[in-house]
Amino acid sequence: MEHLMTKYIQKSFFDNKVLPLLSFLYTDTMYGKNYDYYRIKDILDQYDPKQIECKQWVVDELLPFINEEDEIAVIGGWYGLMSHMLAESIPNLIVDYEIDAMCVDLHDKLKVHKNISILYEDGFQIFDSVEYNGKDKVIICTACEHIDGEDLYGALSMKNPKSTILLQSNNMSHIDSHVNCHKSLNHFIESLPDMKILYKGTKVFDDYERYMVIAR
Ligand SMILES: C[S@@+](CC[C@H](N)C(=O)[O-])C[C@H]1O[C@@H](n2cnc3c(N)ncnc32)[C@H](O)[C@@H]1O
Repeated sequence: MEHLMTKYIQKSFFDNKVLPLLSFLYTDTMYGKNYDYYRIKDILDQYDPKQIECKQWVVDELLPFINEEDEIAVIGGWYGLMSHMLAESIPNLIVDYEIDAMCVDLHDKLKVHKNISILYEDGFQIFDSVEYNGKDKVIICTACEHIDGEDLYGALSMKNPKSTILLQSNNMSHIDSHVNCHKSLNHFIESLPDMKILYKGTKVFDDYERYMVIAR
């Protein structure tokens, strides 16, 4: 079997990276003191088939909008699934911003692509900086449900008009860490500053909906 679940994740990546990392985390949790069981569960959640499907949705819809010279920023990269799946199909520089040091550490252990750079930084600094705001041509945040709505609106209001942005959110408001959910795709779009919408769509699962917008 050449591929596992998606064309953007190879079986060898699971065999050589994900499974050994889970085994390492179990051993360290039992006998060491650096990690805990939560990380094993959280990494398994990252590879949930619905998470993978939603990231595949990003790559499939975003690829036509990515030019050869574009740098890509992934805000809230978690353990790196989004960056990994993008790097499977394009050679562009991908800068993965994450504010959880443990995610950065574990993403680094999972990383196989040289064109991914992982930064332990607030990804929304891109919008405050003239240099970064001009440089990141494609900005992705699939974790909008975790980002305060006013902060997101404020950051996007400063977006370089030439940058393309891809955003995902969902309607899972019953989860404590979700501070910015929406009841529909239009409700999500209405919460954003006025931008030219290049793509919008909804993925309906049995237990929730995920919304995606690509805009400039
Ligand atoms: C739970 S995960 C992502 C879940 C979502 N379904 C997804 O796949 O993108 C959200 C991540 O965003 C990170 N995060 C939140 N605010 C951030 C910020 N301002 N800059 C960078 N990372 C951020 C969190 O540390 C967390 O690892």
